[in-house]
Amino acid sequence: MASDSKNTLHLSASTLNEQLAQSQKIIESRIAQILSGQVQNNQLEDALRYGALEGGKRLRPFLILATTQLFTDDISPALDTAVALELIHCSSLIHDDLPAMDDDDLRRGQPTCHIKFDEATAILVGDAFLSLAFEIMSGDEKLPTATRLKLIHALTVASGRYGMIGGQMDDIEGEKKSLTLDEIISLQQKKTGALFEYACQAGAIIAGATAPELAALKNYAEHFGLAFQITDDILDVTGTEAEVGKRLNKDEQAGKETFVSLIGLEAAQQAASDSINAAKQQLAIFGDRANMLKGLVEKLNNRKS
Ligand code: IPE
Ligand code: IPE
Ligand code: MG
Ligand code: MG
Ligand code: MG
Repeated sequence: MASDSKNTLHLSASTLNEQLAQSQKIIESRIAQILSGQVQNNQLEDALRYGALEGGKRLRPFLILATTQLFTDDISPALDTAVALELIHCSSLIHDDLPAMDDDDLRRGQPTCHIKFDEATAILVGDAFLSLAFEIMSGDEKLPTATRLKLIHALTVASGRYGMIGGQMDDIEGEKKSLTLDEIISLQQKKTGALFEYACQAGAIIAGATAPELAALKNYAEHFGLAFQITDDILDVTGTEAEVGKRLNKDEQAGKETFVSLIGLEAAQQAASDSINAAKQQLAIFGDRANMLKGLVEKLNNRKS
C-alpha cells in the first residue's frame, strides 16, 4: 500500500487479488486502531474486537475505496467512511445470527458472537457498532461538513427501514409465505443491495462526481448486488463448507425461497452471469480506471465464499 508521510492512500498492487488484500489490511488496521482507543478492557471491548476483526472479505469497504480511486489517486478521505460501512455490516451479521433471527452458530468460520460470548453481549455489540459507525463519520475531519452530512444521511437510509433493516424484516416475513421472483429481487435489493449501492455511491460523493457518473455507479451496484445474492444462493447449494450446509438446512427448514429454489440452478447461473455482464457495461464511461470494479464483479462468477 502506498502510504507516505502525508498519509495518502492508494491501492497500488497490480492484480485484483493483491488489491483486495491491500484494502483488507488497510481497513482492518484502521478498525483495530479505532477499537484499541477504547478506554475499558472488559467483555464489551473483547466482543467488539471479535465481532469486527475475525474474518470477512471486506467487500463493501473495498467498493468504497475502489470507486474513490476512479476519481482520485489519494483515497485516504474515504477510509473512515469505508470502515463505518463495514461496522454496520458487522452489526447486521451479528444480529442476523441471533437465536431470534437465523439462529446460527458459525460466522466467518468461527463461533458467532452470541455463542462465543452471550446473547446480551451480541445484541449490545451490534448496537455499539451502529452508533460507532456514525460517531466515526460525524467526526471525520478529512471531509467537509456538508459531505459528511450527505454521506451520513445516505447511510442511514441504506441501513435502516428503507434498506437493510427493511429487507431483514421482509426476509423474516417471507418465511411465512411464498414469494414471486420480483418479490425476492426487491427483498434482496433492500437486505443486501442497499449497502452495496451505498458502497458504490460513497466514493463518488466524496470525490464530487457528476450526476451521470453517480448514475452509472448506482446501476453497477444494482447489478453487482443481484449477482452477489444469486451467487450466494448458488453457493448454498453447491458449496461444501460446513457453515454453508448448515445455513442451507436452516433456510430450508424456515421454508425460505431463494433464486435457486424458484428458477433452478441452471437459470440462476445464467441470471448471475447476465447481471455480471450488465454491471460491467455500466462502467464504460470510466475506461481503464474501472478495471478493479470490473474484475471484482467478474470474480463473483467463481467465488467460493
Ligand atoms: C454475507 O455478506 C451476508 C450477506 C449480506 C449475504 P458477505 O459475504 O460480504 O460476508 P463477509 O463480510 O465476507 O463475512
Ligand atoms: C444476511 O443475510 C443479511 C444481513 C445481515 C443484512 P443472510 O441471513 O441470508 O446471510 P447469511 O447466510 O447469514 O450470511
Ligand atoms: Mg438472515
Ligand atoms: Mg443469516
Ligand atoms: Mg444466505
